[in-house]
Amino acid sequence: MSVARGLGIGAAVLVILLFVGYLLRGGSDAEPLPGAPLREVAKQRGIEIGTAVRGDVQKRNRAYRQIIAAQFSTVTPENEMKWYAIEPERGEYSFGPADAIVKQAREARQKVRGHTLVWHAQLPEWVKALGPSELRQATREHIRSVMAEYKADVGVWDVVNEPISDDGGLRQSVFMRRLGEGFIADAFRTARTADPDAKLYLNEIGAEGINAKSNRLYEIVRGLKAQGVPIDGVGFQTHANLDGLAADFVANMQRFKALGLDIAITEADVGVPLPADADKLQAQARIYEQIVRSCLTVDCRSLTLWGFTDGRSWISETQAGMGAATLLDEALKPKPAFGAVQGALAK
Ligand code: XIL
Repeated sequence: MSVARGLGIGAAVLVILLFVGYLLRGGSDAEPLPGAPLREVAKQRGIEIGTAVRGDVQKRNRAYRQIIAAQFSTVTPENEMKWYAIEPERGEYSFGPADAIVKQAREARQKVRGHTLVWHAQLPEWVKALGPSELRQATREHIRSVMAEYKADVGVWDVVNEPISDDGGLRQSVFMRRLGEGFIADAFRTARTADPDAKLYLNEIGAEGINAKSNRLYEIVRGLKAQGVPIDGVGFQTHANLDGLAADFVANMQRFKALGLDIAITEADVGVPLPADADKLQAQARIYEQIVRSCLTVDCRSLTLWGFTDGRSWISETQAGMGAATLLDEALKPKPAFGAVQGALAK
């Protein structure tokens, strides 16, 4: 073999090795975002700032991982702690994917919000097939096992998610149909026993304004408090769009707070009708700013964004014609909303 040919092969091998190394590290570094990290400005205001995290993306995408670590003080596993993911078969737990997110959070000195223990969606078929007494038993076991596993790392749990329907009735979930309204109190009591140190939240979607849904939620939560059921907080998901926030968002949160509960915004995003343009992104930024201000006004504990990049957002994946719902674009570059959130936290 000629020297030239040998060198050529050597160079090719080197290029391949560098490329494999790059892939193993999960791609390139994130470009730093301008200004002070969100977690720092939020800390000065006494609140946590969080994001939903996708374990699969976090594992293979270095830039995604770096932004989470740099910008946020809490994380919520977007799907990995849901029933279908964590107990796919009765009594057979699959903690691996959630564990990986928890490990990253520990390294970045972040708190983890547990999402979610009792919810009608992303529920395995075996749960739906149970009769009342088995369902009650399986639900208690699920809560105990999952909370025990994450006792050291998860300080806040969405114990019950989305129990109310938009018309203000109790959602006719499998839990409601088999166990009646008492499933809510039972879940909170079980959770308190499983981890007496965890903050226990009821989380709801579309209950931001004063409406049929939030009125019913208020009655339920007030009833739980009156009965001495251990509930610590209410989470307002706050999936918004360019229609803006309900004018009475703050007033609504205040009435829950007056019951002696902590308030958190748990899944904020602002969907935009596609294609997005500069005007729409400015309008979006103003709404994000209002979300931050509303949270601060009611002295919320934390504000979690339901993802931080348009490349990984459930809005573009599930709502036809909508997207661009987060602070960063698909290339992880800041949109006007990023500066708006940063500015509103810093003020
Ligand atoms: C969504 C996730 O973002 C998606 O990846 C998944 O396919 C469906 O669930 N309310 C909730 C969240 O409480 O768990 C939902 O998350 C969004 C609505």
